[in-house]
Amino acid sequence: KGKRAFIAGVADDNGYGWAIAKSLAAAGAEILVGTWVPALNIFETSLRRGKFDESRVLPDGSLMEITKVYPLDAVFDNLEDVPEDIKTNKRYAGSSNWTVQEVAESVKQDFGSIDILVHSLANGPEVTKPLLETSRKGYLAAISASSYSYVSLLKHFLPIMNPGGSSISLTYIASERIIPGYGGGMSSAKAALESDTKVLAFEAGRKHKVRVNTISAGPLRSRAAKAIGFIDMMIDYSLANAPLQKELSAEEVGNTAAFLASPLASAITGALIYVDNGLNAMGVGV
Ligand code: NAI
Repeated sequence: KGKRAFIAGVADDNGYGWAIAKSLAAAGAEILVGTWVPALNIFETSLRRGKFDESRVLPDGSLMEITKVYPLDAVFDNLEDVPEDIKTNKRYAGSSNWTVQEVAESVKQDFGSIDILVHSLANGPEVTKPLLETSRKGYLAAISASSYSYVSLLKHFLPIMNPGGSSISLTYIASERIIPGYGGGMSSAKAALESDTKVLAFEAGRKHKVRVNTISAGPLRSRAAKAIGFIDMMIDYSLANAPLQKELSAEEVGNTAAFLASPLASAITGALIYVDNGLNAMGVGV
């Protein structure tokens, strides 16, 4: 029987979430996605109008089907968390049941269970500011959207994850090495995400037989990365310095996620896997 995946953080066809969805679909999984509420309308319209059809083509020539798109805002765990200005915000008022707890409940009602959970989202409102210029509010917002969002997703989805299931997040090497420009507490948020991967692997493994891993991905020209402002420089740097001198494709990250979600990776949990053309292994630029 095919597996079912919920991928949080898909709002166009450029990012890692989309590529992971494709690799999982190519491997036979049923695809559900969680899309950030403010981006929902344009994503669904584009999907419906066929704007992504070229990007939906799978290796066998068929088109990836997304069984259902759920509105999601992963900085809110339940309705009590949602402040009045968001509740009445035009972009939010048109959707409902988009807090993490409600999305997990909706997926349970619609499908009963899932096998694969993917967290492919991050947000740091002050990402362009150096850490020394980052406000407490901006730092905590980065942690809330990029790190705790994963703890919350896993917490709420674990009860509907089948034993043998697999959970995957995306991280970046700025957590462990200095990458000037990746500011606003985003480097801190990725460090938290990586540390949590280990603790969550223990807790989810013991309690639910679910594996928890994270992929440390190289640079990709996604919407989120373009907002940071230095993505072209990072891609050029990798091309010049990594052991493998080729541009990283999102598909390579997607395929790693499909491997990690499969029984081929049945003994891998609590791991950080680099998918970066080997750049992490370099000690100096060349
Ligand atoms: P992306 O823009 O495709 O994905 C980020 C998604 O997060 C967007 O769809 C956005 O709508 C969503 N999002 C933001 N705040 C949200 C919230 N509160 N609730 C729900 N969704 C929310 O960009 P990308 O780069 O593919 O990002 C995916 C993951 O990959 C992120 O964790 C990112 O940090 C990570 N990553 C990206 C790298 C890159 O160079 N693009 C390198 C290494 C890691």
